[in-house]
Amino acid sequence: MQIKISASILAADPTQLGNEIKKVEKAGIDLIHIDVMDGHFVPNLTMGPFIVEAIKKITQVPLDIHLMIENPDKYVESFTKKTEKDDILTFHIEATDNPLSVINSIKDQDLKAGVAINPDTNEQTIEKLLGSIDMLLVMTVYPGFSGQAFKRYVCDKIRKLREMAPENLDIEVDGGVKPETIPDAASAGANVFAAATSIFAKDDYKDAIEGLRRKAQEFSCLFIKS
Ligand code: DX5
Ligand code: ZN
Repeated sequence: MQIKISASILAADPTQLGNEIKKVEKAGIDLIHIDVMDGHFVPNLTMGPFIVEAIKKITQVPLDIHLMIENPDKYVESFTKKTEKDDILTFHIEATDNPLSVINSIKDQDLKAGVAINPDTNEQTIEKLLGSIDMLLVMTVYPGFSGQAFKRYVCDKIRKLREMAPENLDIEVDGGVKPETIPDAASAGANVFAAATSIFAKDDYKDAIEGLRRKAQEFSCLFIKS
């Protein structure tokens, strides 16, 4: 398995978004994490397909699109139209009654499909979907804002999900990821780490990304390909 670091642009300077993305790309980032919020599923509004389309034009780094929106089925197409093969589109299990149809509509467009799960949602809710997805995103904060504290109790659920999941399923953690919290998440079985504040609030993005990657490698319970 591979360790991947995903830069959440929620904490990037919005007036310099293009430059910020170029900087993390140059610093060796694996994924660009885009937090899409609708003001209903979460109490915040952020960006949508228009921004995704603009970002797509300026970077080769695959996009890790995190939909925090109600009824994702209604909007899947507006995102899949703007994306391509290596990009991942992730929606929340709590936001739809028919997750399998959302997964299929993402895959029909040749995109990778991910499902996200909130801190207090039970792992059994997604058990049946684990064989149908390309990535599982486990929230370690309540979704809505960057800069919140990592909820350590979620690591028990990550451990269970890693045992339940097919071999090599990417498991991403999102929320409060920093060098001090990565050891718990990596040793529980996560291999993809989304981080906003611990990258964009630093002066040296390369140093920040390498620091996160080093910690994840050091504490990972998985067989890691270098
Ligand atoms: C929260 C978002 C996260 C957030 C992470 O709803 O999904 O991706 O940007 O921010 P940090 O890394 O600052 O906790
Ligand atoms: Zn996110």
